Amino acid sequence: MAERPTTIVLFGATGDLARRKLLPGLLHLWRSGLLNDVRVVGTSLEDHSRESFVEFAGKAVEEFSSRKDEMKDFIEFAERLYFVRSDAGPDALRAVVAEAEEGYEGNERPRRLHYLSVPPKAALSVIQTLAAADLAANSRVVMEKPFGTDLVSAVELNRKLHEVFSEEQIFRIDHFLGKEAALNILAFRFANGLFEPIWHRNHIDHVQIDVPETLGLETRASFYEATGAYRDMVVTHLFQVLAFTAMEPPTSLEPQAITEEKNKVFRSMMPIMPENVVRGQFHGYRDLDGVAPESETETFIALKCFIDNWRWAGVPFYLRTGKRLAEGQRIISIAFKEPPKSMFPAGSGVSQHGPDHLTFDLADKSRMSLSFYGKRPGTGFRLDKLSMQFAMQDSTGSAAALEAYERLIYDAVRGDHTLFTTSDGIERLWEISQPLLDNPPPVRPYTQGSWGPNQIHQLVAPTAWRLPFER
Ligand code: BG6
Repeated sequence: MAERPTTIVLFGATGDLARRKLLPGLLHLWRSGLLNDVRVVGTSLEDHSRESFVEFAGKAVEEFSSRKDEMKDFIEFAERLYFVRSDAGPDALRAVVAEAEEGYEGNERPRRLHYLSVPPKAALSVIQTLAAADLAANSRVVMEKPFGTDLVSAVELNRKLHEVFSEEQIFRIDHFLGKEAALNILAFRFANGLFEPIWHRNHIDHVQIDVPETLGLETRASFYEATGAYRDMVVTHLFQVLAFTAMEPPTSLEPQAITEEKNKVFRSMMPIMPENVVRGQFHGYRDLDGVAPESETETFIALKCFIDNWRWAGVPFYLRTGKRLAEGQRIISIAFKEPPKSMFPAGSGVSQHGPDHLTFDLADKSRMSLSFYGKRPGTGFRLDKLSMQFAMQDSTGSAAALEAYERLIYDAVRGDHTLFTTSDGIERLWEISQPLLDNPPPVRPYTQGSWGPNQIHQLVAPTAWRLPFER
């Protein structure tokens, strides 16, 4: 049976995310036959004709598609692209959507997905436009992160959203949940008997979720200035990954079962206290276009948080992320407790290298490694840290693999909520964030290319950051 035709209305179609991920991703979904009869209506505040938007999309694909052969099909795909300015009003939007939907084969009503790749402040007016254009019924809507900027605004956004869309229609996206490597945490934990018995406070000393980026802010400085690292990365991606790492086994893989367990983690999280947070700002940030000369926006954040339940009470979770840092990495590192008693004398190598670790690498080529002590060959009894590495798969190289955004767009089009966040979960995350948002510690300057301000070491003492890896 042929797939139903699909119309994607993409708000923020000339923004950074659309260029880097959404337009190349839609081309790939179409090309791989997952969305075969698709039309894309791009909309943004930029002045584009249909032709110039096609040109914009072509450049985006050429520059950002991870599959270099996709460009050859772009000309055919371009016939499926339309454009309307987002301030042209509801009638103009409705007219362009109708034009795009003319000529779908068969009599089936097309599926419609509105993708709001816009900042939180703009989301409300887009929702109202959709309602006024009569495009909300029988459609689905994808909301980009951050969902609101604090508890009050998230509650308000949910309330307004629910006036127009039912919860069933809403897909709050967090692309980290679409990464193969993040999903692999669930497979690893719950498909094996080996690790789950030690996956708790009796055996785990602490957990680090560390996502340093070398990337700067390029064209996004004014968006970022109003957002900062905590809202951009922590309250969204890092807490979602934390939930996969910490949750109890769900009763099934059904969306509701997974969401229930994730939300239980969020409910057990203790408020984020300013004294457990280091905020930083890279030298030169204040000179960027769109950034205030006295800006207090953090481009770096490291924090310690706790999950106050039977499994995790007292185990610190250290989170770190920031821009213009020394390396681009995305790791979750589980540090196991040291044995209760060691017969290995000081100097034999044990404490120099810290505890055993299990590390998930969330990069596109997802990997895992387990590090532990073994005997160094030769006389005496000296220890070395050894490491076993497992490469999952080359997730962008294999034909079946989808990038995170592709997978999530495909799921949203089909109405599968499994990998999306819910209003309860998000509101709870803003609630625990409130002490930090109300009373943020000062931003500390850091050098571009470093690992952040010096205070990060005190935050994790007596342990140390797992990154950079020993070479
Ligand atoms: C986005 C943030 O959601 O995630 C960016 O807005 C960040 O600031 C990006 O760079 C990181 O995603 P990925 O998939 O490249 O790790």
